[in-house]
Amino acid sequence: MLVLGIESSCDETGVALYDSEHGLLAHQLHTQMAMHAEYGGVVPELASRDHIRRLVPLTRACLQEADKDYADIDAIAFTQGPGLGGALLAGAAYANALGFALNKPVIPVHHLEGHLLSPLLGDSRPEFPFVALLVSGGHSQFMAVRGIGDYTLLGESVDDAAGEAFDKTAKLLGLPYPGGAKLAELAGHGRADAFAFPRPMLHSGDLNMSFSGLKTAVLTAVNKVKVENDGADIDEATRCDICRAFEDAVVDVLAAKAELALHQTGFQRLVVAGGVGANRKLRARLGALKGVDTYFPPLSLCTDNGAMIAFAGAMHLAQAQQAGAFDVKPRWPLAERMQTMV
Ligand code: KG4
Ligand code: ZN
Repeated sequence: MLVLGIESSCDETGVALYDSEHGLLAHQLHTQMAMHAEYGGVVPELASRDHIRRLVPLTRACLQEADKDYADIDAIAFTQGPGLGGALLAGAAYANALGFALNKPVIPVHHLEGHLLSPLLGDSRPEFPFVALLVSGGHSQFMAVRGIGDYTLLGESVDDAAGEAFDKTAKLLGLPYPGGAKLAELAGHGRADAFAFPRPMLHSGDLNMSFSGLKTAVLTAVNKVKVENDGADIDEATRCDICRAFEDAVVDVLAAKAELALHQTGFQRLVVAGGVGANRKLRARLGALKGVDTYFPPLSLCTDNGAMIAFAGAMHLAQAQQAGAFDVKPRWPLAERMQTMV
């Protein structure tokens, strides 16, 4: 089964071809970062228009990379949400038009399920069950994953997601958009303990998280340094120290909550996915947890991409085929049906 995956939920157009027998055959990405940079954030209308421009050339590039033709495609998976409405519509319209033209099934995929399953595209694949830590720009969640489609929410951020906190803090430190990765880079040059920021909800006893207070703590620290320096802006070394203290605080919270999630579920496998999963400090810290096997997607598949959507689509397809006509469900809550719809 050859599945074409389309991702267009935000500012990256991702297209990929996943073969259920031979794995990922091709993966093409166009990032709109440079286009949005001058506005300091994603401009939804520009994002939608750019997705429309990129989808066909990226698909052609994928087919060429995999040495395949349109006729070889068995199904088309696309990100149905969550994301920017217009950007999602561009991908949905393209996927459906292609499905209609090729007379092939079109599979809507939840963006976060794509992230959640992306570590299964790596060289060492986790077995079920596992705890998934999903840390993207819009979400920070712990899930118990017992199989494809069997996801239980264990806890989540009650305000800003970790990635959002990285981005907002980067902005207030004057770093160019998108700031999260840049902040992490500067943190690598900062000194430990030069600043002390809170670890919100560290001892809340549950798996919920709160990161919005951290940016306020950073703002307060910046203003204090400015007052001490007679109004002069913070210098580069101080900026790096602040980035370091911020990153340490986020990583401490995520690591402590990850340990709690593993303890609560009794699972021994941890999977980390989403853009913040590219953070080296977080990877090192979670990778060193004792008695736990930790899995990450390949770095190139941490942020948004079409490969994870193609893969999730292939999994849905396989599940639907396996289910067959004789797979009856005498006890079947309607809510579960909504979750497993392909
Ligand atoms: O998963 P993703 O590509 O998009 C969403 O679905 O939201 O995640 C993007 C997020 C952004 O908030 C970005 O700042 C963050 O991932 N991010 C990082 C790093 N690279 C990307 N955060 C911390 N350290 C990084 N190295
Ligand atoms: Zn994402």
